[in-house]
Amino acid sequence: MAITWSVTTQFRTLTVRYFSRSSALGKASKGQSSNWWINRQLNDPYVKQAQEEGWRCRSAFKLIEINKRFELIKPGSVVIDCGASPGSWSQVAAKLSKSDTREGTVIGIDLQQIVPIEGVVTLAGHDFTTSTTQQRIINILNDRLADVILSDMAPSASGTAALDHDRICQLSVAVLKFSSAILTKGGHVLCKIWDGAERDKVTSIMKRMFRSVKIVKPDACRSESAEIYLLGMDFFLDRHT
Ligand SMILES: C[S@@+](CC[C@H](N)C(=O)[O-])C[C@H]1O[C@@H](n2cnc3c(N)ncnc32)[C@H](O)[C@@H]1O
Repeated sequence: MAITWSVTTQFRTLTVRYFSRSSALGKASKGQSSNWWINRQLNDPYVKQAQEEGWRCRSAFKLIEINKRFELIKPGSVVIDCGASPGSWSQVAAKLSKSDTREGTVIGIDLQQIVPIEGVVTLAGHDFTTSTTQQRIINILNDRLADVILSDMAPSASGTAALDHDRICQLSVAVLKFSSAILTKGGHVLCKIWDGAERDKVTSIMKRMFRSVKIVKPDACRSESAEIYLLGMDFFLDRHT
């Protein structure tokens, strides 16, 4: 599969061609046992803390930690949360983007259902990668640009690490393509991938869009997981000059 796009501004043109390897990769095998999963949940301090603090899942702590370090979301921010279900990142984004004097905007999108979250516009049952969904987001923004685009999207695990890696990188590239159209100058993108051979291709696209690109692994990521976050800060394609 290939994802290509081009954005032209007064000063430069960004042209991106990303070719994924998935057609060359093999087929899935089965996932891990449910007993193992239940035991892991019961012994995980972040699961307990999330329940105590009212977050929908332990992932909340990943965004809280990243935001503490990099201050991506501020009061008044316009945030798009791709892959939002069950909703902990949207909960965190809604809290961080609101203050006594400033009201942010948070749009959460997911293939799955999302139980409504106060302060969040949800697009449940929506595939972020489709033009219909992206047009809906643009309509909700109503001429505003986004300050922060988050993607914790993850494809259903196939059991074949290389194939899953390839698919999650394709989702990140789709997020970057959308970002190049609707992110404000100085805006940020945070994308989850499972680490692997395509990482450098995705970061090299990000380096053409952001002044700073970092790889972040918050403490709440499970140590055995290949999960990492690619953070692009300070978007510098200025469409309005
Ligand atoms: C790890 S979960 C996200 C957890 C979320 N950040 C939270 O804190 O509650 C990954 C989500 O990505 C969603 N997803 C995967 N592919 C997607 C797509 N193409 N469009 C929208 N959502 C997608 C899945 O349905 C799943 O709910």
